[in-house]
Amino acid sequence: MRQAGRYLPEYRKLREDFAAPHKSFIDFCLDPVTATRAALQPIKRFPNLSAAILFSDILTIPFALGITPDFSAGSPRLAALREPAQITALIEQYKSCSNEVVNQKLNPVGKSVQLLKKELPATIPLIGFAASPWTLACYLIQGNSTPGFPATQQFLDQHPNTYLQLSALLEEYIIALLWMQQQAGADILQIFDSWGGLAPEEHFEKVISDPLIRIAATVAQWNVPLIIHARSPAATPFNWQRLCSQLPATPGFQRAISPDAKTDLTELLPSLPDDIVLQGNLDPELFTPSRPLSELKAALDRLAQILRNRPWICNLGAGLSPASDLERVQSLFDFLDAFRETSQ
Ligand code: CP3
Repeated sequence: MRQAGRYLPEYRKLREDFAAPHKSFIDFCLDPVTATRAALQPIKRFPNLSAAILFSDILTIPFALGITPDFSAGSPRLAALREPAQITALIEQYKSCSNEVVNQKLNPVGKSVQLLKKELPATIPLIGFAASPWTLACYLIQGNSTPGFPATQQFLDQHPNTYLQLSALLEEYIIALLWMQQQAGADILQIFDSWGGLAPEEHFEKVISDPLIRIAATVAQWNVPLIIHARSPAATPFNWQRLCSQLPATPGFQRAISPDAKTDLTELLPSLPDDIVLQGNLDPELFTPSRPLSELKAALDRLAQILRNRPWICNLGAGLSPASDLERVQSLFDFLDAFRETSQ
């Protein structure tokens, strides 16, 4: 889940103090001291949290590629890459130098990881992250968060080869960013394929699973666990079964998946290899003040029942919205404590 953020008053204060006079959200992410403070806020408020996540954003990669996202209107806006020639030019400029560019432009992300590792108790592992190539391409081609990312879908249909070249470039940068985080001390890595469920079924292999499997095969060599998160609207379910059947089963490599709250785990679980850890998939809506606390408790009981025979990381299926109620978040930890006591 997105742990830090606007549902925390201390985050809003930090963000406001930092914004003066002209600092953007990307500046905030790329200021290691500030990003470290933001990442530690949820750990300080909820001492029962069992892991920390780096404070950064998936859109730091477009920034490294010279396309700076603007978050001033809330959801991100970027200079859209709608023409194949723009993408070819980007590839010409940035291919085969990902480690150099990432080290230079995203050096503060590595610094944040190092600072966080110093600050965190040894018992709390740090999760580093990046997006998937598809999710980044959604933003880069569309230029914003228009529902369904129609311009990206159209580009994929009309220029599949150029799309795949862009995807390969993004894959190179994602691996470079994950490598930097691992080298700086990240204990676990996570891929956010936030729009994974939007990729058309006929393109699933080339656009979604092939790149994710190659990224997983690379991370498998580094001795860190990898969690793959994807969101999948009910109309186009993300094909977890297909992805999981091909994720590398390298000895010593812990594979984990984090399906969104809409995914029906009772249907999914029987088809998954036994060693795959499940992270998720509570509905973030359950944390809004309008929802009775009993619903959260019932959802947690249901998850615990479904996942009783599996390694399970209790988490949300997506980030907490700014409207989330802090007491409901605390209740999750209280429920989990009680649950641990009764199941011992
Ligand atoms: O969880 C954490 O504490 C780590 C920080 C984190 C952020 N973004 C900070 C952030 C993480 C893990 C992300 C990942 C991210 N960023 C995703 C994948 C997760 C998901 O929700 O699917 C996506 C899609 C993005 C892109 C993004 N960043 C959007 C669409 C937005 C604006 C809308 C929104 O959700 O707020 C952001 C901004 C953003 N990233 C904020 C935070 C705390 C809010 C910025 C602010 O107003 O201060």
